[in-house]
Amino acid sequence: MLAGVMNELSAARTGAQAPAWRHLPALQQPAYPDEAALAGVVADLRRRPPLVFAGEVDSLRDLIAQASAGDAFVLMGGDCAESFAHNTADNIRLKVQTILQMAAVLTYGASTPVVKVGRMAGQYAKPRSSDTETRGDVTLPSFRGDSVNGHEFTPECRIPDPTRMLDAYLRSGTTLNLIRAFTMGGYADLREVHSWNRGFTANPAYKRFESFADEIDRAMRFMEAAGVDFDALRQVDFYAAHEALLLEYEDAMIREDSRSGRLYDTSAHMLWVGERTREADGAHVAILAGVHNPVGVKVGPTTSPDDIARLMDRLNPDGVPGRLSLITRMGAGRIRQALPALVEAVRADGRPVTWITDPMHGNTITSDNGYKTRRFETILDEIRGFFEVHRALGTVPGGIHVELTGDDVTEVLGGGEHIDEAGLAEHYETLVDPRLNHQQSLEVAFEIAEMLKG
Ligand code: PEP
Ligand code: CO
Repeated sequence: MLAGVMNELSAARTGAQAPAWRHLPALQQPAYPDEAALAGVVADLRRRPPLVFAGEVDSLRDLIAQASAGDAFVLMGGDCAESFAHNTADNIRLKVQTILQMAAVLTYGASTPVVKVGRMAGQYAKPRSSDTETRGDVTLPSFRGDSVNGHEFTPECRIPDPTRMLDAYLRSGTTLNLIRAFTMGGYADLREVHSWNRGFTANPAYKRFESFADEIDRAMRFMEAAGVDFDALRQVDFYAAHEALLLEYEDAMIREDSRSGRLYDTSAHMLWVGERTREADGAHVAILAGVHNPVGVKVGPTTSPDDIARLMDRLNPDGVPGRLSLITRMGAGRIRQALPALVEAVRADGRPVTWITDPMHGNTITSDNGYKTRRFETILDEIRGFFEVHRALGTVPGGIHVELTGDDVTEVLGGGEHIDEAGLAEHYETLVDPRLNHQQSLEVAFEIAEMLKG
């Protein structure tokens, strides 16, 4: 994140009009039992400092614009749901490390800068397919993420508690603080990151990537010989994004940038709306229409070209480059059929979007032994399909959005470690969706780098 752009964001909304969303249909919102408690939390949040700054947000929008033109590649990754229990220094460090390692490989493969965006520092609220969960003869509200209620299946935990939003705000702030320290303090040194990747390819399971790592070695020796100042490459920009799901929280984090009079959602640099809440006339799209951040929309296989046109009208009427990313999550079996019509419609429209693939959410299955999981091969297949469609149409694949963790979890089947159904039981820790573990994440990065080169 950029030092020296700490322009003021005032809590008062003097000039710009706050986004109007309260009269619109709002899906996936918690049913808080105590309205007054909710109002108290919202008033408290409105007085608190912003978590990100307008200048940083603008820089990210510019980078995403470059990605839409093929001059950069976006890498978004992190937990499906961050949790308060795993909000530790080690957990954050390992996730940042994993993303930096992936980015180093992708930078080489794409021969362009990689825009690093953590699904971190705020990814605490989840849409659910059902409002309630039943176990035996007990029915309770579904778990909606740690910023809403607790995962434990008891009435006390499952009743939505607005004070959890204050906890989420503080944890997001401390997470950002640590990310800033890591990425500005030398931890992101390219030489160091590359040596971690050499450690990965030294493992016989990943031998096939060794020649690729050798090429990066040679490129780095060349850079050194040519006098590149590696010390100047010790700092990287790293951004934060999450799903804008909890309307009260996002609204309470909107601030006016005193330089421009524009509104920013200062809970994260980038926000996206999920597949379940992306109605062009709904409250979630309305709130993002009213702020100046770069925004994303998750786009599933039922999306029509007309839906996309209406989303562009609402979220990016003037066609500002970098403002709107479409994050496609079609499923490996459907992307090759479903994506072309949408890409063609956007091309005909003429306003730019950045196409990002989420190869996770269209490929969720339940294993025979009852785990919500995904197959590594299927994830790769959706990524391949994404590149194939864009290559065939001459359009730009702008980035990837994945669920990952830096830990050695066993949640996704397959990969070089050959995690099988029985293996899922070993370290299955996710609260919601299965994540690529550290090794699987690197494997994905090497595979994509090869696709980008090829
Ligand atoms: C998610 O990103 O965790 C998610 C719920 O995705 P989608 O909205 O694409 O289903
Ligand atoms: Co998910």
